[in-house]
Amino acid sequence: MSQAGGGGPGAVFAGGGPGAVFAGGGPGAVSVSVGGGPETGPAGPARPRVVLGVSGGIAAYKAVEVLRQLTESGHDVQVVPTAAALRFVGEPTWAALSGHPVATDVWTDADAVRHVRLGREADLVLVAPATADLMARAVAGRSDDLLTATLLTARCPVVFAPAMHTEMWEHPATRANVATLRERGVLVIEPAVGRLTGADSGAGRLPEPVEIAAFARAVLARGPAGVRADLAGRRVVVSAGGTREHLDPVRFLGNSSSGRQGYALARAAAARGAEVVVVAANVALPDVAGVTTVPVVSAAQLRDAVLAAAKDADLVVMAAAVADFRPADPRAHKIKKTDGAPAPVVLLPTADVLAELVSDRAPGQVLVGFAAETGSPGADVVTLGRAKLARKGADLMVVNEVGDGLAFGTPDNAAVVLAADGDETVIPRTTKELLAHRVLDLARAKLAGQPDVGRDTGARVTSPAEGL
Ligand SMILES: Cc1cc2nc3c(=O)[nH]c(=O)nc-3n(C[C@H](O)[C@H](O)[C@H](O)COP(=O)(O)O)c2cc1C
Repeated sequence: MSQAGGGGPGAVFAGGGPGAVFAGGGPGAVSVSVGGGPETGPAGPARPRVVLGVSGGIAAYKAVEVLRQLTESGHDVQVVPTAAALRFVGEPTWAALSGHPVATDVWTDADAVRHVRLGREADLVLVAPATADLMARAVAGRSDDLLTATLLTARCPVVFAPAMHTEMWEHPATRANVATLRERGVLVIEPAVGRLTGADSGAGRLPEPVEIAAFARAVLARGPAGVRADLAGRRVVVSAGGTREHLDPVRFLGNSSSGRQGYALARAAAARGAEVVVVAANVALPDVAGVTTVPVVSAAQLRDAVLAAAKDADLVVMAAAVADFRPADPRAHKIKKTDGAPAPVVLLPTADVLAELVSDRAPGQVLVGFAAETGSPGADVVTLGRAKLARKGADLMVVNEVGDGLAFGTPDNAAVVLAADGDETVIPRTTKELLAHRVLDLARAKLAGQPDVGRDTGARVTSPAEGL
């Protein structure tokens, strides 16, 4: 079965309505590097070109929302469904929402040579959902429809989001196919665990569309070089969000951390092939695709979860805003106004998680702290961050200036990354996704056994987006 609109020759990414700017891109078409966080959308005149491959699983309907997410953040999306996918969601839906004609076979508009051009011109190929069958065909190098042909011609990053029943996902054939795809550089998002087609549940569920779209943006954000799986085989723990120290069951001492920076770090590490655990303190964001999320509330819970996860981790990034103090006497019942003014709140220090990580660290483990500082009379944020780094003994300290609309809850961030050996790297204001990748670049260079590529020389990096 094939479906086509009237795109005509050359109408691969062209002809997509008023915003379409990719006619005649050709093999030499320039990829663009964007700060494509969900909040900001891509900048600049050219829109990144995404091929959204959809194969024939029950989760195909969720790909409609992935398409929406990407087009709304300004991406030029060409949908390539398989014939089986069109049995779940029809061609008019894909064509209308993408603004592009849709084909499933290589014969439609043969003069446009879509089977070659789509892959060549794309900045990213994202297959969601990826069926067991589609992955098997991709591994075998088949090109018996437009999607598999596109996968063979693509030289851009390729992301697969598999979805299927647990038995199919766990079958040795599928495991081997996933391993082969990863060896070839395909970024395969781990499916979520949850409700499947019927009443059953287990591993194999497609992650939420918002997370798949965020993953795709994180990959695109790295620009033409894309995301390399340079953290493959590494275990990474990230803490995110802000802890709450309860005064009574309904009131707490907390902070304004949204968890966005921590989640961006987790997403970036997963995109680079790491096995990631995120310890999430009161984060109201969707779980990051392909990442194990451990929800916690208090500093004590966060400590326990981080120390447990860190035991066999190569890298621990403490991005959460952890309370320094907790009420000495939290009440079991709500403190009532009618009982009169409560006694003054006595505070006790909480555990110093980063210091514990440092004292317990496994050989070769890299530890990264975050310092959210407002500065104080006589000491700027970098001076305070340097003092914190020396006090804690971590490898890197990411120093954020907070307050007055900075860092907390915002889509972007700026930081100075201080290293124990004296290096100092300025990361100018950028998206939290790009900042996350830059922090991971620096952390990766510290990992034992890794070539020292990308390591800073000590010079302050001040050009915008350098190395991002
Ligand atoms: C109702 C229904 C739901 C299906 N869901 C899935 C699924 O979630 N994952 C999967 O790998 N295959 C699923 N299949 C099987 C695929 O549709 C079948 O393997 C097909 O050949 C896939 O073709 P494609 O990979 O070319 O899209 C389902 C089939 C049916 C009838």
